[in-house]
Amino acid sequence: MTTSGSDHGHKQEHWGSKFGVILAVAGSAVGLGNFLRFPGVAVNNGGGAFMIPYILSFLLLGVPICWCEWTMGRLGGRFGQNNGPGVMYALWRRGPAKGIGALTLFIPVVVYMYYVVIEAWCLMYAIEFFSGGFADRFAEATEGLTEEKEVVGAVVGAAGEFFSSTTGDTHNGGMLEGNLLYAILACFIVNFIIIYRGVTKGIESFCKVAMPLLILSACVILVRVLTLKGISSGLGFMWNPNWSALRNPQVWLEASGQIFFTLSVGFGLILCYSSYLRQDDDVVLTSLSASSTNEFCEVILGGMIVVPTAFLFLGAENATGGTFSLGFFTLPSIMHFMPAGNLFGGLWFGLLFLAAVTSSLSMLQPAIAFLENGFGLKRTGSVVLLGAITAVGAAPIVYYSRGLTALDHTDFWCNLGMILAATAQVILFGWIIGAERGVREANRGSDFPMPKFMPFVLRYITPTFLIIVLVAWGYTKLPGYIEGMSPATRGTNAVMNVYTPVIAEHFADENLEGEALTKRVRKLVGREGRKEPLPEWLAVHKDAAEEARKAESSDAKVARLVFIGLIVLYLLLLALADIACRNNIGKRIAEAEARGVRLE
Ligand code: PHE
Repeated sequence: MTTSGSDHGHKQEHWGSKFGVILAVAGSAVGLGNFLRFPGVAVNNGGGAFMIPYILSFLLLGVPICWCEWTMGRLGGRFGQNNGPGVMYALWRRGPAKGIGALTLFIPVVVYMYYVVIEAWCLMYAIEFFSGGFADRFAEATEGLTEEKEVVGAVVGAAGEFFSSTTGDTHNGGMLEGNLLYAILACFIVNFIIIYRGVTKGIESFCKVAMPLLILSACVILVRVLTLKGISSGLGFMWNPNWSALRNPQVWLEASGQIFFTLSVGFGLILCYSSYLRQDDDVVLTSLSASSTNEFCEVILGGMIVVPTAFLFLGAENATGGTFSLGFFTLPSIMHFMPAGNLFGGLWFGLLFLAAVTSSLSMLQPAIAFLENGFGLKRTGSVVLLGAITAVGAAPIVYYSRGLTALDHTDFWCNLGMILAATAQVILFGWIIGAERGVREANRGSDFPMPKFMPFVLRYITPTFLIIVLVAWGYTKLPGYIEGMSPATRGTNAVMNVYTPVIAEHFADENLEGEALTKRVRKLVGREGRKEPLPEWLAVHKDAAEEARKAESSDAKVARLVFIGLIVLYLLLLALADIACRNNIGKRIAEAEARGVRLE
């Protein structure tokens, strides 16, 4: 480990080598987002055409925000700060800086709370493959079947069953029934042991081994996939553009959301990682190298493995669908049809697990640095405390597993928070620090300077793009999630969903559809509200309808609980950030200033 002391005995830890820091940041970026989220999002949003908003978002949001964050982080390190609130406060001595700072602690920690659960799923899948468990399941499911369609259906069904039993998505508490809890515990232990060892001995050393290993495994799988007969039809399915998708604002939104998530940019962990740079270490090229590594893993490895193979073996109808269904039951099914599938399946989920670990580390380090810088905790203290906080936060996500509601809502609010945090950071960089001054600072020690037009982009283009994204987000996504927190609305919708097909069938000769059908449903079911009994042929479904109402309204309460929990956690972090800035963080910044450290 390399540390440099300051005159007051504070040890500042530094990365061991440039290669190490690139791999650590790439390790943060390359994760489940690349191999699970990207293929799903791309294929559901126009395939090849999705790449246009995606590349634009990469160039106009990803790269510029990365540069801002790297530069601000390195600057913060100069003031002895490795944590979001400290870095923000060193750069802008005003109240709102603490608010942004708290956000940069909040998002990584909350993402960890659900990410670790998915990490554990990957571990379970890897074990199931290596141990031959999947082979047995598939053999049993397909016994006696000869027709191809039936075989495919049975295999996908068996994989779906394993997904449901692992994730417990059919009822609350379902995740606790199998061995998943042990897998989650194992993930916690692995992540926190590495974190305990510190930035260089823990994170850097681990990423130096894990990253090459996972890229190599992915390349092996890619070669296997590309040499499958007929794969070009699958590649076409993924990459042939559906141009009309470009007119849909949702596609643009998904593209920008994916960029934030996959690059881990804009919400504090690059701030933390880059604060461990030395002051004359390059940020411009290093940042680009880490982002490019991520894009290689995402577009080339992620994009060419999952979807084309799914298409090849299972056809279009099975190659689309939700993010999780593609990764967790389509993919395992494919392995059944592929020569040496058990080995490749195990390898694939093993690499997902590794990718998830390197990302998790980066979600934990910002809070560890905050507890240490801000409250003077020792490593053991900070690790134990953060372990407890994240375990408490993960508990409701694990318990309320039906429909994966808690996980989905947590993910949604985090995604929104990511865009908010990024917007705040870019405005701070472009307008408060000043884009020209910021770019000058970034260019110090850099292997090559940023392009001349960068100040303009940082001041106008990126913030405008971000604000458009935020507004679009508010229009298209927010209402659905807010409604998702209303027990009454969700309950009523659930009841309608039970009665609708029955009513459609009853009046089959009228061919009711759309508006007309909804009207009829309202008329018939609405009677009940007026205390008139339902007609008999509907009343027989009453129990089912009530059950659906209960389930949906209780899910809505879970969603509400998640929201309230998140607000409380944010306020708590804000209070802690405030206390720390008034005490340890403020003191240390003042000491640095007394030594002549300042923003040039
Ligand atoms: N970038 C990671 C991925 O693609 C996810 C991540 C999100 C990492 C938030 C850190 C913080 O999977």
